[in-house]
Order: sequence, then structure tokens, then C-alpha cells
Amino acid sequence: MPVIRTLSQVVRRMLLSPACDCRTSVVPTRFLGFSPRQIPADANFHSISVTETDHPCVLITGGLGQLGVGLANFLRKRFGKDNVILSDIRKPPNHIFHSGPFIYSDILDYKNLREIVVNNRITWLFHYSALLSAVGEANVSLARDVNITGLHNVLDVATEHNLRLFVPSTIGAFGPTSPRNPTPDLCIQRPRTIYGVSKVHAELMGEYYHYRYGLDFRCLRYPGIISADSQPGGGTTDYAVQIFHDATKNGKFECNLKPNTRLPMMYIDDCLRATLEVMEAPEKSLSMRTYNINAMSFTPKELAQEVLKHVPEFQITYNVDAVRQAIADSWPMNFDDSNARKDWGWKHDFDLPELVTTMLNFHGSDTGLPKLTENIKWKSACNLDSCQGKMIKFFML
Ligand code: SER
Repeated sequence: MPVIRTLSQVVRRMLLSPACDCRTSVVPTRFLGFSPRQIPADANFHSISVTETDHPCVLITGGLGQLGVGLANFLRKRFGKDNVILSDIRKPPNHIFHSGPFIYSDILDYKNLREIVVNNRITWLFHYSALLSAVGEANVSLARDVNITGLHNVLDVATEHNLRLFVPSTIGAFGPTSPRNPTPDLCIQRPRTIYGVSKVHAELMGEYYHYRYGLDFRCLRYPGIISADSQPGGGTTDYAVQIFHDATKNGKFECNLKPNTRLPMMYIDDCLRATLEVMEAPEKSLSMRTYNINAMSFTPKELAQEVLKHVPEFQITYNVDAVRQAIADSWPMNFDDSNARKDWGWKHDFDLPELVTTMLNFHGSDTGLPKLTENIKWKSACNLDSCQGKMIKFFML
């Protein structure tokens, strides 16, 4: 390998290296590792590395959203309860506050973020603060602040303190001019939502910081995520969560997307496992820094048919929301995640039948009802009207 002597030579090498192939890149990115916040290069921010301790010290931002608590529980099993800090600007409910470390963090306040990272010797950061697609369209300026300005703070603090940084991206990072079935990792990305624009920005900025400053940035494009014990907030794919609440509560569901709207989806257990797997993957296995991940792809009609197998009296009606429908129509119908499967061995566990059984089982078990099996149908398991009061828990969080 030739010796690199000057900054201009380094920059030239960086720009010429393949856009997404860090295995073949020979650029010594640490050479450029002064802080983007103009802190002196000799400040030695890189003195604590992930490898210094046996396990990472983890911070999760936006911890009270759909995925944060599940991720914290998942990571705590692996790294120990006290090594995973959940954070948010909102006050946590009792059960979350008492289940492990929780602190206030505001990603728009850089000094607050830095203090948390320093005081807790954070080594891994999962950045989950974001406004989702539908709610973002209703609050563009807030979405811009949280999803873009907030990301800048996170990138800077992660670079200064040599963190491994995970930022979720999404099917929403694609738009109507992207190939939709399937959508590959690398293709045109011209999203039409502030959410999508901010996520493309996050992908590009993260990759830029990786090549420019050596930031260990890792990013997965999530499909719509379906979780049993937490509610999403303001997403276009949320119907696929709400349907289980409504099917078990009163046997019917009004869908805000058209029956044949096909979108990629994933059960939360697969999503959390993929997230940990990409974070633990050896650097040399990552040919890219942003990967599609996929599990299944279905329409509201297909999902309803699967629910109907277990809840024979289930009824779905359609009352289309024009904003959400336009968003969904511009998104991938199917995700090509072959690079994730090839590079770090991604493999999903849950397809549509397992997803539906698991979700209905979860809801059924919370009511104290017998678990659903292929042979115990919902109708025989309970009188739906009589168990409605016990369903309230699912609508909180
Ligand atoms: N679940 C997100 C949304 O619908 C997409 O990633 O906004």
C-alpha cells in the first residue's frame, strides 16, 4: 500500500474510493479526525474505544418511541441492565423508569448530549429520535429540527467521542422515481416527505462522516415495524399495528390505506436482532454503511385475510387517508436486502403467518384468554364484548 503523505493526497484518495465499499478503501480516515465542531485535533477524544471494555456502554435517544424500550430490554439482556441507558425528553411511565437507567436527553442541546456521553462513558449510540412520515408532514419545521439538526448534534458527538453510531433509516428514504419492486440498496432516492428527505440526509451525512472522520456509522433501512406492546406514532405503516388492537378489541378495523397497497414490513423481534447484528458485525464484513433489511411484504387485504383465519368474525373497511395513501404509493413495495444477507448474514424469522399468530397471541394473553392456536379460534376463546375493558393497556405507552 503506498504511503500517503499530504492532506490533499488523503482527500483525493477518499473521494476516489468506491462510494460504499469500505473493505477496499485504503484511506486512513483517522488522519482527518479533527472534530467537526473545531475542537483541537490533539484533544485526544479517541482515548476510550469500544474495545476498552468487554461490553459497550449504550445510549438510546428517542427512547420512548415505538422501538426504544424494546431495544433497551433486548440489549440489557446481552450487555447488562446498567450498561444500557434509555433517554428521552418525555417523562417515562413507572414500569419503564424502574426497569433500568433512564435519563433526560435533548438531541437539540449539544452540551446536554456531550455531558451524557462523557459522564456515562458511552461507547455505542442508537439514535432513535425522529418524527415519522405522516406526523412529519403535519409538522415540517419540527421534523426538520429533530430529524436534521438533531442528527447533526448526534453525528458530532459520536465523532468527538469515537462512538459506534446506529441511525435507523427507512423505506421512506425512497420516492416515486425509485424502483419499487424490488428496491435495491443503491438506486435513485428522491423522497417526497420531510421524513424521507431527512433520512436520505442522515444516510449521506453518516457515510460522509465515516469517510471523512472515521466515524463508525451503521445504518439499516427498516421496513414498517410491527410491535405488540408499543404503539408507533404517526407513521404510514401504522395500520399494520392498529389492525391487531382493533381486531382483538371489537373484531373490526377501518384501514386508512387502500386494500392493495403493498409495503415491506417486519416484526419487531427481527428488527431488534438485525440492529444488534449489524452493530456487532466486524468492520471488514461491511461493504456498505447503509443496508436495506426485509422480512415480508403484504397489502392490507392480505393481512386482513390472515387475521380472518384466527378471528372469523373480523371485518375490515376502508376509509382512505389521502396523505398517507400518497406516501405509501411512493414507497417500495418490496425491499431487496441481498447485501445484508450476503455481508453479515441477515436472515428474518417472521413471515406473515407467524407475525399474525404472534400478535394475536400477545393480545389474547394480555386479556387472560387462552392463547390462540390453529385449533382454538378467537370466537370460541372469548366473547369479544366482555373483554374490551382489559384491552386498554395496549393503547397506552
Ligand atoms: N414506519 C415508518 C412510517 O410509516 C416508515 O419507516 O413513517
